[in-house]
Amino acid sequence: MSLDTVLSRIDSDLDAATERLLDLLRIPSVSTDPAYKEDCDKAADWLVSELQALGISAEKRPTPGHPMVVGHVDGDGPHLLFYGHYDVQPVDPLELWDTPPFEPAIEDTPKGKVIRGRGSSDDKGQLMTFVEACRAWIAVHGKLPCKITFFFEGEEESGSPSLVPFMEENAKELGADIALICDTGLFESSVPAITTQLRGLLGEDFTITGPSRDLHSGMYGGIAMNPIRVLTKILAGLHDETGAITLPGFYDDVPELADEIRAQWQGLNFDHESFLGDVGLKSPAGEQDRTPLEMIWSRPTCDVNGIWGGYTGDGFKTVLPSEASAKVSFRLVGQQDPDKIRKAFRSYLEDNLPEGFTVEYRTDKGAPASQMSIDDPAFEKARKALSDEWPRPAAYVGCGGSIPIAGYFKEILGMDSMLIGFGRDDDQIHSPNEKYDLESFHKGTRSWARILDELSKG
Ligand code: BES
Ligand code: MN
Ligand code: MN
Repeated sequence: MSLDTVLSRIDSDLDAATERLLDLLRIPSVSTDPAYKEDCDKAADWLVSELQALGISAEKRPTPGHPMVVGHVDGDGPHLLFYGHYDVQPVDPLELWDTPPFEPAIEDTPKGKVIRGRGSSDDKGQLMTFVEACRAWIAVHGKLPCKITFFFEGEEESGSPSLVPFMEENAKELGADIALICDTGLFESSVPAITTQLRGLLGEDFTITGPSRDLHSGMYGGIAMNPIRVLTKILAGLHDETGAITLPGFYDDVPELADEIRAQWQGLNFDHESFLGDVGLKSPAGEQDRTPLEMIWSRPTCDVNGIWGGYTGDGFKTVLPSEASAKVSFRLVGQQDPDKIRKAFRSYLEDNLPEGFTVEYRTDKGAPASQMSIDDPAFEKARKALSDEWPRPAAYVGCGGSIPIAGYFKEILGMDSMLIGFGRDDDQIHSPNEKYDLESFHKGTRSWARILDELSKG
């Protein structure tokens, strides 16, 4: 059977495929930091030449930010669009890396071989599973089994500022029957997953200012209100003692989980104790009347991601600072509207500012949650393909993270997305020592070959 030939080809090419991924991982394409602009460009060039080497017509397409890579292959059958992102998160804190983040290597660990390096899992390793599956398919058959558009972005980790305008300007070119997005994870190391819901995201980065300058806390302390005292009280007030978020109207557009999905999730037997235990924690911190999977996948959150102000250097300085700042983000679900939540947050904050205090916001757009409908037969086909590859059957799952492009595909191109990825919970994405299991890379590539086979059978 020819699928077996493709799978064998993937097996025998694994070392070379891994070397190619290491090449891509050596390019420090950190999209958020202007110092790496040329490297982002280089990563785009690298992908263009990889696709071209496969006989795919591919181009680097400029945007006001980092370039997109777009490639097309003509063919019969369904038209698939494959999306991944070639940009990566910053590496800091650098001192916590055991090996240099952009000098990737294969490492033996007690749990098996891993590819260590920034972007190995999020998202270069995942993106390359699809490219390598295509390479093997072409090597065996001389061409791909259906019409495919390749779409790689270089700004995903920095809020995708160029994405919506690019999609709008190129809507006709980017339209396809369904988008395949490889930027999520397995449910467990032996259970593959198709993600059917993503949380949205809203960030607020702001500074409150009280006194017009830093003050001596002996001379002014007691009479002058300290902005850090104000800020911490505001932040502490965002949750109540049951773990619920206190902003008025916050839960208005949060739906209850459908019974069918609740039953599906119960069947997954999620082991929250080991999930938390792996990161040194014991008990769930979300709304106390919710299950652990609901807390991660279907309930909204509010987190303080950073907080600063006053003197933080060595020793001690008795300062009463003029300013205090924080970065706060909300994961959104259901129909929660980022703009409405932003308004509610700002009114709460401003209502709690003492007289004379001011606030300045440095914030960009938010993205709503997305919910995939699995009515398209492509979902069951992909589930079968994944179940054939992995030790246990594939599950439909939620994802606590955010991938705003899934919503834009629907909104701008009218296209559904199927989110399939092979990351593991312990990949340390966005953190020091990011890794991707060699097994994820290998079986991920094999999975795409099987999915291509199923989807193109018609
Ligand atoms: N690949 C992640 C999304 C993700 C996170 C999938 C966790 C599975 C598990 C994506 O690259 C990401 O980091 N998204 C950001 C939002 C983006 C707008 C910066 C996120 O979720 O914080
Ligand atoms: Mn990602
Ligand atoms: Mn990411």
